[in-house]
Amino acid sequence: MTDVFQNYSSGRDDAPMPPPSRSALDAEAVKLAYRRWAKVYDVVFGGVSRFGRLRAVEAVNGLPGSDVLEVGVGTGLALPHYKTSKSITGIDLSSDMLDRARERVRVGGHSNVRSLLEMDAEETSFEDNSFDIAVAMFVASVVPHPRKLLRELKRVVRPGGYILFVNHFLAPGGVRGSVEHAMARASRSLGWHPDFAMEALLPPEDMVRAYMQPVPPLGLFTLVTLENLPSD
Ligand SMILES: C[S@@+](CC[C@H](N)C(=O)[O-])C[C@H]1O[C@@H](n2cnc3c(N)ncnc32)[C@H](O)[C@@H]1O
Repeated sequence: MTDVFQNYSSGRDDAPMPPPSRSALDAEAVKLAYRRWAKVYDVVFGGVSRFGRLRAVEAVNGLPGSDVLEVGVGTGLALPHYKTSKSITGIDLSSDMLDRARERVRVGGHSNVRSLLEMDAEETSFEDNSFDIAVAMFVASVVPHPRKLLRELKRVVRPGGYILFVNHFLAPGGVRGSVEHAMARASRSLGWHPDFAMEALLPPEDMVRAYMQPVPPLGLFTLVTLENLPSD
């Protein structure tokens, strides 16, 4: 989301500060940025990301296993859409985003949300093999070390379970890739940062086996599904 909200400003003093660039987005920077974004997140980002979020939850709902970890759960926009047979644990670094997620769960009575915890997705306190599925929606391009995030998700998901990401990824060459590189130079005026490469998240051995589906709008986002191999 750093990319999406890059340099966003309403011009008001109390408006959210632009989140720092991805490389600078350590835990404290994330908390600071999302303290301010929490107030307007659903309105500013909820719409454009809706299809990607719904596709990811739909995919989770169709997978075997009931214990689901949602990392970077944010304001909890996905929470109402899980099947009630899925038991959801949500984590996020930002207590302000989590407050909104908790309120959503309270108002909606989503009793299948087991817990919402303040925790770093790159270094959780969960035991190995705690979950059947982990899903990260619009988070991979926000964390400082995407490969570390992937390693942690592989640790906490049981062998044979699934790890899902939905995000915007830089197109691998071609016209769209060229356009995205060009767009990245204009990210200040675009309001998002289009050049987060999938290679920054997935090592080559996962790139070749991941199941990738473009999602609307215009295939701008990609849903990545990765089975957690026993040898991982
Ligand atoms: C763009 S928002 C996405 C929120 C939600 N997944 C959605 O689909 O609306 C990114 C979220 O990731 C959280 N986040 C960023 N880095 C994190 C980390 N290392 N661990 C846990 N959450 C993190 C932020 O606090 C923020 O709530």
